[in-house]
Amino acid sequence: MIFETHAHYDDARFDVDRDALLTGMRSAGVGKIVNVGADFQGCKDSLALAERYEDVYAALGIHPSEIGDLTEEHIRWIEEHASHEKVVAIGEIGLDYYWDKEKQVQQTQREGFLRQMELARRTGLPVIIHSRDAAEDTIRLMREIHAEEIPGVIHCYSYSPELAREFVKMGYYIGVGGVVTFKNARKLKDTVAEIGLEHILLETDCPYMAPEPHRGKRNDSTNIRFVAEVIAELSGTSREEVEAATWENACRFYGVDGHKNCS
Ligand code: NI
Repeated sequence: MIFETHAHYDDARFDVDRDALLTGMRSAGVGKIVNVGADFQGCKDSLALAERYEDVYAALGIHPSEIGDLTEEHIRWIEEHASHEKVVAIGEIGLDYYWDKEKQVQQTQREGFLRQMELARRTGLPVIIHSRDAAEDTIRLMREIHAEEIPGVIHCYSYSPELAREFVKMGYYIGVGGVVTFKNARKLKDTVAEIGLEHILLETDCPYMAPEPHRGKRNDSTNIRFVAEVIAELSGTSREEVEAATWENACRFYGVDGHKNCS
């Protein structure tokens, strides 16, 4: 069974078939899904999906590209809902210098990232970190606030194997999705081969990042099998073993399925 650790089923691209997709997940081999908020509306929608579908859980947070949405009121709302039984993480939060090159916006992103890391510390929830073209500042800020005390995952990992080892040393998981199936994804393939299954979580980031052979199309969690297949090749094991190991990792990380906490 697959644990999908990062999806966006609140996205409008799922309006036509969301219910059919989500009710059919178990028969397609996907046992659990975490729906991740990116803006404030996405947080509310994620929680609504988690309340409606037994196998869906919610992560609440404001994405760096939506950081203008991070008001005191929204922080308070997230904190109030953090103890909801289906809320399993703070995310996605972090830094994205690929889309935002402006100095002032990047500063706002850094402040928002730190505030939400503190929010995670207060609520006792793990974090889902989005980091793109911002490796140096991400690791610097994480060291500054002692991120090793806050469990987390670096989602859609895009940096070097060396840096992955630094994150793993801080106790972080590495989120691996569709990109690992791309021919030119050498760095990510090397990272997967080096760090080992015990530090990996499976994800789609759907509707984005569809793996080969569906690259460029709308993605959904049933495509994770293609990702698991490639990870199995890279780590010299079977797809079933990859699914079982990452299922355990995700249950422990999110504190679900009999696991009380994620440390
Ligand atoms: Ni995402």
